Amino acid sequence: MEDSVLDLCCGSGDLAFLLSEKVGSQGKVIGLDFSKELLSVASSRQKLLSKPCYENIEWVEGDALDLPFSDGYFDGITMGYGLRNVVDKRRAMQEIFRVLKEGSRVSILDFNKSNVPITALIQSPLSLGMDD
Ligand SMILES: C[S@@+](CC[C@H](N)C(=O)[O-])C[C@H]1O[C@@H](n2cnc3c(N)ncnc32)[C@H](O)[C@@H]1O
Repeated sequence: MEDSVLDLCCGSGDLAFLLSEKVGSQGKVIGLDFSKELLSVASSRQKLLSKPCYENIEWVEGDALDLPFSDGYFDGITMGYGLRNVVDKRRAMQEIFRVLKEGSRVSILDFNKSNVPITALIQSPLSLGMDD
């Protein structure tokens, strides 16, 4: 099956490269970020690593708050340490659910605002969570 997956706020592409190996050469991975510089690093790494499956990755300059894709386009979405960086988390989540196919999955890796004192202490410099 040809899965299309999106790595949001991909930065220099670590997660996109992992996804690429999972979906294989029949699938498609799009790494999206609004930093031209980081996308250029990602693209250089793609060329340098030159694994055949990495040819299924496309780098797109864009805003996570206004995704340039049609409704229900993706079979899966990942976002690593991106949600805490977007200025409008609710809007980012709305966009994620808009472009996901029904019944598909989104995996978001981030820190959260914890009420457990020890966790809060460890995470305090990085803690942002959903506050709206
Ligand atoms: C901490 S980095 C994470 C990079 C990568 N996902 C990783 O795990 O290494 C956060 C990324 O979010 C991107 N970013 C923040 N807000 C964004 C937005 N509204 N649209 C697209 N990218 C955004 C930044 O350019 C940056 O590359």
